[in-house]
Amino acid sequence: MTDARAVGDYRTIEVVPVGKAVGAEIRGVDLAAGLTDEQFAETRQVFSDRGVIFFRDQELSPDQHIEFARRWGEINVNRFFQPVESHPVIAEVLKEPDQEFNIGEAWHTDHSYDQIPAMCSILLAREVPSTAGDTLYSSQYAAYDALSDGMKATLLGLRAEHSSRHVFGAQTQTPDVSEGGGRFRNSAAATQDAVHPVVIRHPLSGRPALYVNGDFTVRFEGWTSEESKPLLDYLYAHAIRDEFTCRFEWEVGSMAIWDNRATQHSAQNDYPGERRMMHRITIEGEELEPFTTA
Ligand code: SIN
Repeated sequence: MTDARAVGDYRTIEVVPVGKAVGAEIRGVDLAAGLTDEQFAETRQVFSDRGVIFFRDQELSPDQHIEFARRWGEINVNRFFQPVESHPVIAEVLKEPDQEFNIGEAWHTDHSYDQIPAMCSILLAREVPSTAGDTLYSSQYAAYDALSDGMKATLLGLRAEHSSRHVFGAQTQTPDVSEGGGRFRNSAAATQDAVHPVVIRHPLSGRPALYVNGDFTVRFEGWTSEESKPLLDYLYAHAIRDEFTCRFEWEVGSMAIWDNRATQHSAQNDYPGERRMMHRITIEGEELEPFTTA
């Protein structure tokens, strides 16, 4: 993911790249007051160029979070996460001090198990541990670009199956999850599988991006799980190489908006005995098309 526009090209926002391949912090805006049309257009451009954007020191009520999210598109209510009380369109991403398990530690992209996967997730920090609890992001443009021509040619013809069953289904409700107050719900709804191209043409940029993740991808279409595993394991490890990643350190009022079609993310679980509470709104995407060289 290259920084397609130089930082100085933006007229109404200040843009500071975070990682080499992915991520940018946007400064000089107050999301509670609302963005002008030009600020919003420039913000969307940075999102498209850098895959994940960050804001700091935003004081947003849940209603303001929802209003801002609606500017990005239609809200997709996650059927598995506990909603925030009185705001059912906001998912609660919570880890209590006595829990071992956190949500989202394994590298993944949200909603790849849906036939129409989510465009982006808008995560707002409400309560953070005294230290740690960062989130890592990895550019799947950079991951694809770094593959050999031979591997690219192999992957371009493939599609892969994604599923939520093994993550959110009934058999996965471990004691730790239920001790935590049943942070996932609706396990009976974890029945849908989806098939997506392994290399997608990104709907905004038109660029090729690798689209498999270790949490939800289960096999290549037409291959057995055993046949798929070695190549998928290689791709999962490749997709998160250090040079494709950036790290975001949260403070209360920090917000990240990541593109689920261009990045993967991993929430670090390194703050035992402390509470971390985030509010997440997910925005609908569109059907994913394969990248073709023709
Ligand atoms: C998630 O995977 O959506 C959670 C990310 C985080 O808590 O940092």
